Amino acid sequence: MSNEDIRYVTDSTRPNAGRIYDYWLGGDYNFPVDREVANKIEKEMPFVKSLARIIRWFLGNSIDRAIKMGFTQFLDFASGLPTVDHIHRRIPEGMKKEIKIVYSDIDPITVRIGNEIIGNNPLVKFVECDCRKPEVILKSDIANNFLNKNQKIAIGLSGVLYYLTDEQISYITKTLYEWAFDKSIIYFCDFDIETLKNDPSIQAVFDYYESINQPLYAHSKKNVIKLVEPWRVKEPGLQILEDWLNLPLDIAQQWGKFTGGSTYYGGFIEK
Ligand SMILES: C[S@@+](CC[C@H](N)C(=O)[O-])C[C@H]1O[C@@H](n2cnc3c(N)ncnc32)[C@H](O)[C@@H]1O
Repeated sequence: MSNEDIRYVTDSTRPNAGRIYDYWLGGDYNFPVDREVANKIEKEMPFVKSLARIIRWFLGNSIDRAIKMGFTQFLDFASGLPTVDHIHRRIPEGMKKEIKIVYSDIDPITVRIGNEIIGNNPLVKFVECDCRKPEVILKSDIANNFLNKNQKIAIGLSGVLYYLTDEQISYITKTLYEWAFDKSIIYFCDFDIETLKNDPSIQAVFDYYESINQPLYAHSKKNVIKLVEPWRVKEPGLQILEDWLNLPLDIAQQWGKFTGGSTYYGGFIEK
């Protein structure tokens, strides 16, 4: 990271994508400059806040389920800022000493701020990694010494598949399959282009992301299930997020305004 980037981390006069996202999530790690940009984007795309929240609720809920299933180690890709409902905030008090968490993100500034947020907890790391090259972590000291390779692990690809091509999804999940211990899981969510196809608002979203040089890729759920093989879909299956989260009807309806229906799905795949 350059000196310029380091200055930027603590610079509350310039907006930062991670802090903007944190604002949508209702977090407290953002500045007026972030909120101003967030509000502008929201005017163009009024659904962004619900989208950010539902993805993060999925993440928090998946962590709760994984803990109940006996997972004690987490390797999370494309983490964003570890604020509202993120992994270390979901760990029950009595388990904090037995859980190991590796957060990662492609954005060096997010990583830097993320490290500020987690402080010096020896059981939580936050490293820079482009999830298109998971081997950067898998071959590192973190994978070999911090994580236990001989134990199942819960791996996160939440809220990132739409940034990835089919080939990249396939490469990432195969690489993780070869590395992960038996019974490991990947928790992920994505939108299903099959259910979005007839929604005119979707084109505006694709155009917006294209304009900020972060193109989106549309996948169908059916195709994703093939792309991630040999990982197998785990019970209760890949569900629309309203069902996965058992959302109250009023929230589900508010969410439904964006797409005119349920388009986001998520769940676990297992080795
Ligand atoms: C929508 S946020 C998701 C945050 C979090 N995973 C969640 O579920 O709430 C997307 C994050 O993905 C990161 N990202 C985008 N492309 C990435 C890539 N190729 N590798 C790693 N992180 C990436 C962005 O920097 C951003 O922090």
